[in-house]
Amino acid sequence: MPTTSGPETPAVRILVTGANGQVGWNLQRTLSPLGDVVALSRDQLNLSNLDAVAQAVRDTGANLVVNAGAYTAVDKAESEPELARVVNALAPARMAEELARSGGTLIHYSTDYVFDGTKDSAYVEDDPTAPLNVYGQTKLEGEQAIAASGCAYVILRTSWVYDIRGKNFLRTVLRLAREREELRMVGDQFGAPTWARAIAEATLVIAVQLLRRRNTLDAQSRADGGIFHLTAAGQTSWAEFADAIIKEYDDCCSWPADSGEFGQPLKVKNIVSIATAEYPTPAKRPLNSVLSNAKVQAVFGIALPEWRSQLRLAMQDAIR
Ligand SMILES: NC(=O)c1ccc[n+]([C@@H]2O[C@H](COP(=O)([O-])OP(=O)(O)OC[C@H]3O[C@@H](n4cnc5c(N)ncnc54)[C@H](OP(=O)(O)O)[C@@H]3O)[C@@H](O)[C@H]2O)c1
Repeated sequence: MPTTSGPETPAVRILVTGANGQVGWNLQRTLSPLGDVVALSRDQLNLSNLDAVAQAVRDTGANLVVNAGAYTAVDKAESEPELARVVNALAPARMAEELARSGGTLIHYSTDYVFDGTKDSAYVEDDPTAPLNVYGQTKLEGEQAIAASGCAYVILRTSWVYDIRGKNFLRTVLRLAREREELRMVGDQFGAPTWARAIAEATLVIAVQLLRRRNTLDAQSRADGGIFHLTAAGQTSWAEFADAIIKEYDDCCSWPADSGEFGQPLKVKNIVSIATAEYPTPAKRPLNSVLSNAKVQAVFGIALPEWRSQLRLAMQDAIR
């Protein structure tokens, strides 16, 4: 019979919020090798109930909270600024306060939309922020509250998140492509489409390093402000991204017909690239939101592949 050699390190307890979101859904799977993952959906933990947020952090006794829940409806946020602020700023602030008390760590996600898009190259972490919309403003307030809390934290600013599940651009494009012959897509906004799975996997790599080298990295993350950009490599426009989605879909045309929405034929023949001005939306969006990933590579050794190769892998996931 095998013998044990001394006490084991106590299991890590991880609280994941926004469990039904694109990143949250993936986190439940990728973080499981680390310990007990308690993943709560909006129904189980509504981030607009700040006392419930604090209670959940205490009740789970989490060493690590990964906050994937957020008010992400960018246009709707313009007419619901208070709710967006509670979910995106006050809720992470409460998590951070609790973790500052308990000594736990927070991994939180923020957005490329904290920038105004006027820079003509990739944004670095300490470039000046100037959000153009309520969503970006409330996400920025969340960042600032976490930084002020005194807890150990890593904030990952990502962009243009997609997956084969959930509400996202990829699924919208495929739905429209089944219905219409021509799609009009914005061609003068530039960013990096980032697969939710890749964000979750990078979060695992970061979490391992945070938990194993905690003291060192806590000091470092405080000194650095704890903000990191994390996107796929490369850049594209929404129009070019839509074109790539259609092409990748067509390349997989031998998919079995039982692949649900991913097994359906597309009607689309043409993608027309239009200017932002031709597609007015309630929320303004930055023209350039490409983020430099140099810091996350230097500190955590993470370099996500080019967006297009990730898109191909994501599409292949739809094959059953
Ligand atoms: N999506 C993007 O393009 C994008 C871009 C840059 C940064 N980010 C950031 O990346 C992180 C992950 O986003 P994602 O792409 O996974 O977004 P997502 O797919 O929209 O998921 C967000 C999740 O938050 C949940 N949520 C919304 N309001 C809530 C509330 N009051 N209480 C509890 N949960 C609530 C949603 O619940 P339901 O499922 O019930 O709706 C959803 O499951 C967020 O911090 C987001 O700001 C996203």
